[in-house]
Amino acid sequence: MNEPRKKKLSDNDVTDSKKYLRQVNWINKDVEVGGRMAKDSHKGMKLKETDLEQLDIDIILDHKVFEDQIFYLVKLKTQSLKYSVWLSAGKVTGHPSILYYHQVFMNSPEGLDERIISFFVHDIVTREPHDLLTLTKLCALVYGRTEEVVRELGLTFEELRAKALRTLPIPAGRLHRKRLPLLRLMRFAEARKAVLTANAEWEREISDASPVPVLVENDVDLEVAPTSYRFIRDYESSYVDLTARPVLSCTCEDCFAERASCCASHFGGRFAYDARGRLLLPPGHEVYECNRSCACGGACPNRVVQRGPTRPLAVFRTRDGRGWGLRTLAPLERGQFVLEYLGEVITPLDAEVRDAAYDVTGATYLFDLSGGAFTVDAGQKGNASRFINHSCDPNLQVYTVWGDQQDPTLPRLAFFARRRLPRGEELTFDYQMEARLGDEYLQGDRMRCRCGAPSCREFLF
Ligand SMILES: C[S@@+](CC[C@H](N)C(=O)[O-])C[C@H]1O[C@@H](n2cnc3c(N)ncnc32)[C@H](O)[C@@H]1O
Ligand SMILES: [Zn+2]
Ligand SMILES: [Zn+2]
Ligand SMILES: [Zn+2]
Repeated sequence: MNEPRKKKLSDNDVTDSKKYLRQVNWINKDVEVGGRMAKDSHKGMKLKETDLEQLDIDIILDHKVFEDQIFYLVKLKTQSLKYSVWLSAGKVTGHPSILYYHQVFMNSPEGLDERIISFFVHDIVTREPHDLLTLTKLCALVYGRTEEVVRELGLTFEELRAKALRTLPIPAGRLHRKRLPLLRLMRFAEARKAVLTANAEWEREISDASPVPVLVENDVDLEVAPTSYRFIRDYESSYVDLTARPVLSCTCEDCFAERASCCASHFGGRFAYDARGRLLLPPGHEVYECNRSCACGGACPNRVVQRGPTRPLAVFRTRDGRGWGLRTLAPLERGQFVLEYLGEVITPLDAEVRDAAYDVTGATYLFDLSGGAFTVDAGQKGNASRFINHSCDPNLQVYTVWGDQQDPTLPRLAFFARRRLPRGEELTFDYQMEARLGDEYLQGDRMRCRCGAPSCREFLF
């Protein structure tokens, strides 16, 4: 962290704020601040204390740093949007809408920026002790821990805690009305901290079980990771022998040069990849990779899915009621392998029973394998792919892939990018693809699709 600019940032003087306010208004021509409003905001500025009741903040719309002062564009409850006003950060410190603005509205995963934190830290040292607690909570909310505050304040953690505790408990009967927003904020921060802590643990677990880092992000609500399943690195099954030796293999010296006679040809298939491992086959074709009985080594271009995912991912909370989703944290090329759909390999009969249970929760994690002998269930055991949502205009295509395991009834399910994907894009596939191939298990109430594609078919199943 850079040295906080204590002098300037603490300069919370009313006249200065007034001066800056005028300048800020001026540099923000897009914001309409009429004469009447300017007068009102001056009135607001004259308040000695940050009086949340009197300011009656509705929502924070924007923020700017101007000459080292932080300003928030505030819509007041009693005013229409177009009379929103710029207020110095000191006027809105501790108001829950600040957190809402930074965490939810701005969707900034790293939370408040350094300068804003510095402001809060410095502001708080010179204020009522209960604000210290707010700050602690605020930083807990932003960072998920309090070390940063401790460092900034130059206190030991014990000192900080003692200070914070002196301000509590506030007897319920003597709760001052003005403290309510603060308490609400603290409660929110507390809940948010619990979310961040739980999700950080989840992130460790999922990343440990994955060859690539998988982050967990929730900047939307207070939902924590579901805990009712385990992350796995490969299929799990009590029905099939997953260690059976491959029957067919190749003797190529250079599989790419000899691709016409390499592994895929034994199965009547085409060599699937270009020299750099990007998939060339159109949807519907099957992929046959080299296996442990082949003469080629691990660097063979016909060993893509078996090498596992290579790009970092993030499980994230969607904003539109689709639960969790998965996004790529690196750009993907067209035809690039992303990850496999892993889970327990079960029989269609088991799947029917489990599907009935999933109907109750409204989410399904069942994926039928072509041929109909098995279903992959990622409900209780799976990898990050269990969070991939459906889209009617998906950016992933699923392919059946065989490698070491050559049982025709037990292919792997591998997702490849259908087009070039920028960093951060949500990954989706078309759930109906398998359904169109004739499976009937997806019955019951139809679920409304929220994929948002212009070509949306309206229902998930
Ligand atoms: C394989 S899971 C995907 C991860 C899931 N969103 C979660 O939070 O665990 C499938 C479930 O996600 C939800 N879902 C996926 N795509 C959706 C979409 N386009 N519209 C609405 N819900 C969707 C449905 O509840 C579906 O049963
Ligand atoms: Zn070969
Ligand atoms: Zn090979
Ligand atoms: Zn749709």
